[in-house]
Amino acid sequence: MKIIKTVTEMSGLCNTELKNLKTGFVPTMGALHAGHISLVNQSVKENDITIVSIFVNPKQFNDKSDFENYPVTIENDLDLLEKANCDIVFIPQANDIYKDYDGYEMDFEGLDKIYEGEFRPGHFRGVIDIVYRFFSIINPDNSYFGEKDFQQLAIIKLMVKKAELPVNIIPCKIMREDSGLAMSSRNARLSINQKTTASEIYKTLNAVKESATVDQSPEQLISFITREIDKNDDLKTEYVVFCEPESLKSVNIFREKSSVRLCVAVWCGKIRLIDNISLQF
Ligand code: PAF
Repeated sequence: MKIIKTVTEMSGLCNTELKNLKTGFVPTMGALHAGHISLVNQSVKENDITIVSIFVNPKQFNDKSDFENYPVTIENDLDLLEKANCDIVFIPQANDIYKDYDGYEMDFEGLDKIYEGEFRPGHFRGVIDIVYRFFSIINPDNSYFGEKDFQQLAIIKLMVKKAELPVNIIPCKIMREDSGLAMSSRNARLSINQKTTASEIYKTLNAVKESATVDQSPEQLISFITREIDKNDDLKTEYVVFCEPESLKSVNIFREKSSVRLCVAVWCGKIRLIDNISLQF
């Protein structure tokens, strides 16, 4: 496994040796867990070469302390990537990757202002800036993103469409702990008790998925979900929404034969967690 630390070396390699190889790219912020590794495994299966980036992107953190406390576990990450047969790890520095680059201007069509965007102003602009930059350096054929960051995935698909980039965005299923808790690098900052409490989030989402009918109103279910989650001492919902899976428009009536995504953000103590689940009517 090759480790590359500069943009010049990475783009040089992509424009020469790797040019005619089918390339899969998995962008990450490190603190890797089984969820990330499932993306790497899929990329290794579907491409000639797999490149994983590790870069804690300062531009996408609206909260300074979240950035400063973001877990960094580089030795363990490299070990996991080596075992997963990753070919290249790209670990750039901020002043290198953002050199002579102010970001990618795009019309988010309002998607950056709702749900996550409402509570994390500037977050999606930062995500798009770095993902666009990675794509222009690496020029991958396929790039892999977890469905846990459902809104991020929709916005990246929009960016690729608008910029007409020749990359397939491959959505990958959410990986969960045995308790149902969605895997996330931020889980490393939860205590054992908090992890148990946080698993109530998925239990509630799943119970709603199993029991919801078209006759119910999304509004009533949102009140129910909020109550169920917030009755746990350490949990506080920030938003709960049912939305259309592609446009992310919020849904205020369920329709027969439709698919709806239920998305939530919940504080567990000082840690902000997100999760989502698909409902089919
Ligand atoms: O999902 C993430 O970990 C980040 O938002 C990403 C896509 C690596 C961009 O920094």
